[in-house]
Amino acid sequence: MNKTTKAETAVSILTESEVAERVEALLRQMSLEEKIGQLNQVGGADFAPGPKAEEQIRAGSAGSVLWVNDTKRFNELQKIAVEESPSGIPLLFALDVIHGYQTIFPVPLAMAASWDTAVPEKSQAVAAKEARAAGIHWTFAPMIDIARDARWGRIVEGAGEDPYLGSAMAAAQVRGFQGSDMTDPERVLACAKHFAGYGASDGGRDYDPVYLSDTQLRNIYLPPFAAAVKAGVATLMSAYMDLNDVPASGNRFLLRQVLRQEWGFDGFVVSDAFAVGNMVIQGHARDGREAALRGIQAGLNMDMSSYTYTEQAAGLVADGAVTVSEIEDLMRPILAIKVKMGLFEHPYVDEDLLAAVVARPEHRQAARWAAQRSMVLLKNEGGLLPLKKDIKNVAVIGPLADSMESTEGSWMVFGHTPAAVTVLAGIRAKLQDAQVTYAPGPEIRRDIPSWFESLMAEEAPKQPQTAEDAELAFQTAVETARAAELVVMVLGETALMAGEAASRASLDFPGRQAELLKAVSDLGKPVVLVLLNGRPLSINWAAEHIPAILEAWEPGTEGGHAVADVLFGEVNPGGKLPVSFPRKGSHAPLYYARNLTHSPEDSPMYNPRYWDGLPVPLYPFGFGLSYTTFAFSNLKVSAPQVRVNDTVTVSVDVANTGEVAGDEVVQLYIHQKWGSDSRPMRELKGFKRITLQPGETKTVTFQLGPDELKYWSTNAGQWIQEAAEFDIWVGADSLAALHTELEVVA
Ligand code: GLC
Repeated sequence: MNKTTKAETAVSILTESEVAERVEALLRQMSLEEKIGQLNQVGGADFAPGPKAEEQIRAGSAGSVLWVNDTKRFNELQKIAVEESPSGIPLLFALDVIHGYQTIFPVPLAMAASWDTAVPEKSQAVAAKEARAAGIHWTFAPMIDIARDARWGRIVEGAGEDPYLGSAMAAAQVRGFQGSDMTDPERVLACAKHFAGYGASDGGRDYDPVYLSDTQLRNIYLPPFAAAVKAGVATLMSAYMDLNDVPASGNRFLLRQVLRQEWGFDGFVVSDAFAVGNMVIQGHARDGREAALRGIQAGLNMDMSSYTYTEQAAGLVADGAVTVSEIEDLMRPILAIKVKMGLFEHPYVDEDLLAAVVARPEHRQAARWAAQRSMVLLKNEGGLLPLKKDIKNVAVIGPLADSMESTEGSWMVFGHTPAAVTVLAGIRAKLQDAQVTYAPGPEIRRDIPSWFESLMAEEAPKQPQTAEDAELAFQTAVETARAAELVVMVLGETALMAGEAASRASLDFPGRQAELLKAVSDLGKPVVLVLLNGRPLSINWAAEHIPAILEAWEPGTEGGHAVADVLFGEVNPGGKLPVSFPRKGSHAPLYYARNLTHSPEDSPMYNPRYWDGLPVPLYPFGFGLSYTTFAFSNLKVSAPQVRVNDTVTVSVDVANTGEVAGDEVVQLYIHQKWGSDSRPMRELKGFKRITLQPGETKTVTFQLGPDELKYWSTNAGQWIQEAAEFDIWVGADSLAALHTELEVVA
């Protein structure tokens, strides 16, 4: 087997015409079955029903394989493809590497909380190096679904509620995974998913139908995908659900009109798992034959493991329902990417490479750095934080305090064994001379188990804890806290309580965590709450009664060290919330960029929306504190009036008015006061994370032009920028008060 050398000789970068020539030459030698085979992604795991992977590959009926995570196995399967299939076309190996391969980074929602595009870009570049060294060519990431309903479990995988922040994070992840050169042996293909609108499932219930108007699709849910395509993403994944009653995998509006005709996308689209065949279940196809027809006509290039294409496409061609050239059109971008990546020259992976790559110290350093920058300080009454390192006796309490799996978080790589530094381990490493005690308290578990449990959890699902054992654990935890001078509570959700098939109606602490927090707080000692969670939580009581609260999300392999770095002041937290925190699950969907309506919050006739409690977020979008303080002043626009299509510069001074250096995320929001359509009361249109020394002031500038001021108008049925007056705010979160105005004239 011609194994690659460690320093893989770079493949020459081909011109588009050279790629096209090679694709046409391949195509001319291929049978129809083989052309259809390239559209087929084989499920390489036992849970995926269907013919054996080897048989499909040997027959030339496989273009790609997913759910295999074994370097030797990759080479075995690739050998069959290259040496035994009719045309010897190499396979693309794909896997969900969402936030790290072996070195795990903070979950994507946490990365977005850094409000620093360098965080996702650097993190995904490391993930790509490790995944590619394992033999993976293609990751099913970034997940860039806007999510405004915190009940939806997959909010953890995206960048939150805002299209402007989400678009910046989407492009940064694509750059991190793919780099700028498709032949780079340390990069992987990215896959923008789930196209499109998946985050708006009814009631936040995963997989449920999505109904979105043009204005919602165009102004909120599609922009991150447009940004990913503009950043050169190689592939997209069509979503599971019905979008306006048409499954995304058979949706010509999405796959042909928007993606190909409007955006000029030239890569390829893979369906979500079994989604082509599932169109029969969803009632969009009478049978597999019609499902295949729907996918082909919609322009869906690759069928993820439902085998509907390999079972039906040849028959559709024989019947004249589909032409050979339609099959070839679907196949070309798949072959083109294989040629561009140099897979024909280097189909195999060096089986010794991964260990060396993962051992690079800069990988864990990057994971710690990313986790530090993702943390959001939600409360710090009386300057309890940062803690002093001469503290003698700390109790670390809570079911997540020593959980590697919950520290690494949702969407673990298939077959990965968690090895995170937990919060307990991080605090113990920081306080070598102190007594650091620990008690988990009662365990927490989903009311309805996740079917991912068997795939993702390192240990098989345990028997639920008995009520007696839970009570004993509760009392032990309270007694452990009583004996300490300060308590760090680590509460939130387990890794499987957010993510796929992990929606929930409540946003409260699961289990007896809230009760335990109150019991510990009643002891009258200083309590710091560290949250490990994959979604906003309604921590209303804690927000009132606990003096210090740090949102650590699911911080990855180095999470415990990063939490300790922040708690003990070695790092000053500077993250901001990428999602609003509702006071109740039933307030969702809840987001800041709402329309004013005829009864805005500040009107005398304000309708309190719910009479049983205002749906004001517990913490607003963009919120986050620091160990220092900042002041905004001198907000100016370069011209009070500009013409449509002109650009204006907005500037503001930001000062560090405290005693320590710190980061502030300067955020710019606009409000178009009137227009063809009603526009949201605030929309994020600029952000910059800056570092300021104590006493230092910096002037921050933003550009406001057509890109920021245009919107898709329901009335006009197209993108427009119109003459109108605008409110402009700049500040530290979406409630920013520093205000000026801008007039745009025709
Ligand atoms: C899953 C997810 C998708 C993932 C795919 C392959 O069901 O919806 O995000 O990439 O299947 O594992």
